[in-house]
Amino acid sequence: MTTESHTTHELKTREIYQKQHERLATDDAAIARIKGIYDDETFGVDPTWYEGKEALDIGCGNVGALIAKLTELKVKKSYGIDIATDWMDSLTASLEGQNIGKEKYELSTGNHLSIPFEDNRFDMVFSNGILIHLPTLEDIKAGFKEASRVCKKDGYFFASFGPCQGLVQGAIFPAIRKYYRENKEFAAFIDNINPETIHESIDKITKDAKKFADQDFDQQWMKSLFGVDFCVFLQNYIQAPSWLSNECTPEFVEKMFEENGYKNVKRLSHFCKRTDVRKYFAPLHFDMEHPMSKVLYGEGYVQYVGQKI
Ligand SMILES: C[S@@+](CC[C@H](N)C(=O)[O-])C[C@H]1O[C@@H](n2cnc3c(N)ncnc32)[C@H](O)[C@@H]1O
Repeated sequence: MTTESHTTHELKTREIYQKQHERLATDDAAIARIKGIYDDETFGVDPTWYEGKEALDIGCGNVGALIAKLTELKVKKSYGIDIATDWMDSLTASLEGQNIGKEKYELSTGNHLSIPFEDNRFDMVFSNGILIHLPTLEDIKAGFKEASRVCKKDGYFFASFGPCQGLVQGAIFPAIRKYYRENKEFAAFIDNINPETIHESIDKITKDAKKFADQDFDQQWMKSLFGVDFCVFLQNYIQAPSWLSNECTPEFVEKMFEENGYKNVKRLSHFCKRTDVRKYFAPLHFDMEHPMSKVLYGEGYVQYVGQKI
């Protein structure tokens, strides 16, 4: 059961991601990056396993890259659920744009905390970046249990919690989120951030560096590092009302898998190819054992798959 304050929280989260996903949909670099997130091995299951299976994408949002990948892996039908209904038209348009036939998916309103399907319904259940947006750790545990309820015996649950601790997630982003909540001007800056604003600042930097210090900066190269995808990355990490990825440590997540009856629990990692400024950090983000990776990214990106007993 969700309470009234849960509903407000969920609707706010939805509104934020609706806008972010709409921006991503118009940007070729973002679409290429998102498609690159998923390859045949991403979910830690043999690629021949998917044929004829049924999958549930909880908190599917409006981009559709996961449903498109599952269709490519020959899943019979994918079911997408999310809060309210505003995401359905844009997700349908996105899937149509990727030539995914209507018989391959079904979309409905649904909450991670009370999934509108019967027990043991799905061969595979996905919760990709949703649980960390629930208001409390108790909700996260309840959401995990609810996802496990609809997963069949021998089916798989793929759960992605995102970046955990280190200087970047443990200190810098929590401070930025706090400042965003407290400072209206900064909040407006983040809510409206776009490449043009950053590029205009780069014009000023290069002009003044030349004028005052006779330094030459490569303006075009600097601008190429900051596009729409970078702006939405900032919004993603800052705007959501709740962001509990630091609390979702590998230990915490493994315990949930254990308590909900899973075997073959595996942590998954994937090198994410980027084209903006984040490309310089991607190798450290991926490595997890390198000393600088540990300093910057702590426990690294937390995502797991487990097989229901
Ligand atoms: C970071 S986005 C992830 C979207 C998508 N899974 C993806 O990987 O692109 C978070 C999504 O979770 C949804 N969401 C948040 N709370 C939810 C809840 N309680 N139940 C279902 N979806 C929820 C939001 O509406 C939003 O679409």
